Amino acid sequence: MTEAITFDPQEKLFVLRMQRSFYAMRILSDGQLVHVKFAAADPTVQPLRLSRLDEYPEADFSSWENQTRLWEFPTFGDISYHDVALKAAFPAGGIPLCAQDGAIDPIRDLRLRYRGHEIRTDAAPGLSPAHGRPARKQATLRQTLIIDMQDLGFDFCVRLFYRLTPECDIIERWVQLENRTATPVAIESLAFATIHLPLGEYDLTHTAGSWAREFIPVTQSLHQGSTVLKQQGLNTGHSINPAFFVQPRGLATPAGGPAYFGALAYSGNWSLRFEALPTDPIRIHGGYETDDFALHLAPGQTHTTPAFVFGVADDGFGGASHRLHRFIHDYVLPVPAHTSSRPVLYNSWEAVYFDMTVESQVRLASIAAAIGVELFCVDDGWFKGRRSDHAGLGDWVVDKTIFPEGLNPLIEAVKKLGMRFGLWVEPEMVNPNSDLYRAHPDWVLHFPTRPRTELRHQLILDFGRPEVVRHVHAMLDALLQEYDITFFKWDMNRHATEPGSVAGREIWFRHVAGVYSIMDQLRKKHPRLEIQSCSGGGGRVDLGILGRVEQVWTSDNTDALDRVYIQDGFSLFYPPGVMECWVTHEHNHQTGRVLQLEVRFDTAMRGVLGIGTNLDRLSVEELDTYRRNIAFYRKIRPIIEQGRLHRLSTARDHGASAWQMVLPDGSQSIYSLVVVHSLLGHQVPCHPLRGLVPNATYSISDASERELLRLSGTQLMTLGLPGDHRHIYVKAGIRSRTVLLSRVE
Ligand code: DGJ
Repeated sequence: MTEAITFDPQEKLFVLRMQRSFYAMRILSDGQLVHVKFAAADPTVQPLRLSRLDEYPEADFSSWENQTRLWEFPTFGDISYHDVALKAAFPAGGIPLCAQDGAIDPIRDLRLRYRGHEIRTDAAPGLSPAHGRPARKQATLRQTLIIDMQDLGFDFCVRLFYRLTPECDIIERWVQLENRTATPVAIESLAFATIHLPLGEYDLTHTAGSWAREFIPVTQSLHQGSTVLKQQGLNTGHSINPAFFVQPRGLATPAGGPAYFGALAYSGNWSLRFEALPTDPIRIHGGYETDDFALHLAPGQTHTTPAFVFGVADDGFGGASHRLHRFIHDYVLPVPAHTSSRPVLYNSWEAVYFDMTVESQVRLASIAAAIGVELFCVDDGWFKGRRSDHAGLGDWVVDKTIFPEGLNPLIEAVKKLGMRFGLWVEPEMVNPNSDLYRAHPDWVLHFPTRPRTELRHQLILDFGRPEVVRHVHAMLDALLQEYDITFFKWDMNRHATEPGSVAGREIWFRHVAGVYSIMDQLRKKHPRLEIQSCSGGGGRVDLGILGRVEQVWTSDNTDALDRVYIQDGFSLFYPPGVMECWVTHEHNHQTGRVLQLEVRFDTAMRGVLGIGTNLDRLSVEELDTYRRNIAFYRKIRPIIEQGRLHRLSTARDHGASAWQMVLPDGSQSIYSLVVVHSLLGHQVPCHPLRGLVPNATYSISDASERELLRLSGTQLMTLGLPGDHRHIYVKAGIRSRTVLLSRVE
């Protein structure tokens, strides 16, 4: 393996080289670590020569404008007066002070100096802390740089980690704090990393929205000052997601120009601060949200943060998406327990809601199996007292009025039909109307003497109490021991309010740690278990949870038209292979819109296909169409999971979302088009395809299994697919098509 990380002892320069980008920093004579450069680089230009002219000027204390430094990990203290990555408070008690200084307490001044470094080459999974199960490329050696920094006075140590994945141009950064002093240290703010971008003007792209409208792309210009994206929560959040692109203004396009990108591997109180300074480059601080944050480090204690994953692409934000998708697929997602493909799923939520009977479930299961479903998941409503959302959460035992003989008769029926069995749970919650709450009213987040607000009639369990985390783990473990459950849909359905906990303000990250630890333990003990992350739809999607789950519920909004916008945004950062989508009723339950089955399937087939319709009410002909489409999906599924996504046009910008997914060797590809808006007579041009083999011939077919036509790679990559123009665009209204292109010669 080539040396990705080098240190020049003369120049005191670290250079981290990836396939098409590099990152450099330098130790100053007094031990301060400063950033040098982070940019895309032409890999043919070797060796990379960085001169002092590439760097930013040293701090100049006599100049009003330059009294700052490009600290690699800026701390509150020294001469910093902008946003910082770390603020620590050291008690002055015990330090001999002169009489006048006695009242100055605590000492909020941290100055980090280089102590040493280590370069490790190993196959550890990265993404601090550990995964639930090893990722696919577990045996791949990667380099990690660990830089040891220490305060110039206190025995307080900060270790900076940089783990490289050169083929994805990705660095994972995280920090470890160690309090080696004799007194507790209060940490008042903590980022996982600060990234400096070269001087320039930039636009920020991220996704925003709300429940049922997640992942809508937003682009805004970064102007002087701080632009903050944040979530004060116990989930990742519906309204904003911790992943972004930053592009030099006017330079980045879907396929060209530099695009910086980043994502936090964390599912709770996160913040991303984009700080445009008057004289310096843009700095991005990514880490814990600080409005209600505290971390107390007792003497001898350490704290390791989650990771901030970032990189830069030289081929536009399409290239940035591709790097993130590949990294997530190869290094973040756990190796699936069963097959390498995500099973086609049936979920009964929209079919029956709380009106569940064992007979109706068995009947749905038998129809689901007949149309090609591989995993049957029972949603909310199966446990004690749960006849509506007013009661039952917390009591994770089967409701005997619905399932008199427990779940086994249903599970046996499902297995006999050749499917796996999955179950919905919402383990972090409790309804006041439950045995658990009656026994332990103190086990919920609340402030004594203050109201306990119920949202969706539920309260949040206090994961700051180790006994609560143990109890929740034991309940889920008991279910897995008793029943052959190989899939949990892990839901989380309310915002965090009144966050009173025995863990104080540490509850934010302790809750996330509790969720991660339960998932990790369950997966370790039950290696056949797979998990879907759901939080009222797409409220818990990030690189931290993706290390522990196979797929995510993208949104509660199953309307195919709305969904296309959501998919365009989701796929900017997260791979289609984890994006669960369902075909639901013709008359959509969320929007009331009526859409033809073809559009509902073409949209749902872009990710992990699920069926949520009441199959009992469909005609034989409709069921046959379901069966045909599912068979087609199973054929194209490996391309969705392993192919490279090209977003050829988006619903928001062009009125039509056109996706192409293509296998790395160009042998197979899918073209998926959904027209969401067009005026009669407005003809949208065909999209030239990408990544095919120019002089190969491709056979083009659709769900009918018929060959529609044969064309060369060159023609497809210059003229696009014929037929779109006339057949698809000339008619007004919502229409779609999905075709498979297979190399035949
Ligand atoms: C919210 C989820 O997103 C839905 O799919 C469903 O599982 C309900 N919760 C059940 O309460």
